[in-house]
Amino acid sequence: MPTIAIVGSGLIGRSWAIVFARGGWDVRLWDPSADTLESAPQLIREALEEFAAHGLVDDAATAARRVCVASSLPQAVEGVDLVQESGPEVLEVKRQIFTELDAAAPRHTILASSTSAIVASKFTEHLPGRERCLVAHPVNPPHLAPIVELCGAPWTSPQVIARAREIYESVEQAPITVNREIDGFVLNRLQVALLAEAFRLVGEGVVSPQDLDKTIAEGLGLRWSFMGPFQTIELNAPGGIRDYCNRYVAWFRRYMADLPSPAVWDEENIDRVIAAWGRTPTPEEVAARSLWRDKRLTALKAHKRAQPAT
Ligand SMILES: NC(=O)c1ccc[n+]([C@@H]2O[C@H](COP(=O)([O-])OP(=O)(O)OC[C@H]3O[C@@H](n4cnc5c(N)ncnc54)[C@H](O)[C@@H]3O)[C@@H](O)[C@H]2O)c1
Repeated sequence: MPTIAIVGSGLIGRSWAIVFARGGWDVRLWDPSADTLESAPQLIREALEEFAAHGLVDDAATAARRVCVASSLPQAVEGVDLVQESGPEVLEVKRQIFTELDAAAPRHTILASSTSAIVASKFTEHLPGRERCLVAHPVNPPHLAPIVELCGAPWTSPQVIARAREIYESVEQAPITVNREIDGFVLNRLQVALLAEAFRLVGEGVVSPQDLDKTIAEGLGLRWSFMGPFQTIELNAPGGIRDYCNRYVAWFRRYMADLPSPAVWDEENIDRVIAAWGRTPTPEEVAARSLWRDKRLTALKAHKRAQPAT
């Protein structure tokens, strides 16, 4: 049975455990926090049961039994095929964890980091086994949003990237390959471009934040749940992408001369946006809304699975 070690079993680590247990892998969890390790198996079991209720996993109890807790990092990585590091987003901590992982894991083990924004070359350069290290960046929560951005350091072996791609596909994730290290990888660069325009439009009073959100939820986002911007524009002009560009790039060029400036992230603008949004939710409300989001994502996943892919 293939085995994965999840090193760092917080929000993202637990979600990875669900992905791999659902995909038939044995899962070993490790985390320096005893409380986190104690609560993780129950949280994972509950999520698998929710999945089973939507027909997305056949046997939640069997999947949950594949997850066990390790007593140390070396025990967690013993004989595993893949490590999914999901510790804190702090460069020094990533360097320390990868130093320990490279020393403890068997030579064939792939060492992947869930990091959102730190390129692998910053925390793997010093390692004897650096060719088996890469970033495998998920979106929160990976068990409901399958994208995984794979990005190696300049010294990561192409065979490791290819093997990682196969592994994530085999557990029904949707890996993409980022061909060179770039700040923010792909997903967050796209997200920041959209957020910058959103903060500009709301900060300047062009639209309320609620109506801006509606523009995505009831407009662009409907298509984006199953097709990307290139597929979208291909269908927005009878002659495809070239025709679309011929029709619209003159306006796009004018827009590019007036891009949102870094000032959209100044405190005053953030204050304006938050004031327009309304009250800040309590942590309990955030948790409740996150559960609601996950239920909707689960239903969307079931819907997408029932539809033809093309
Ligand atoms: N939360 C998100 O939306 C999101 C999305 C994509 C990627 N990520 C990335 O995933 C990683 C984990 O994020 P998270 O949201 O799960 O954070 P989290 O705080 O929920 O979990 C981090 C876990 O790491 C543990 N930890 C602390 N020191 C450690 C060490 N030395 N070794 C191993 N584990 C250690 C903590 O006890 C904690 O349980 C980060 O790199 C983050 O950037 C997060």
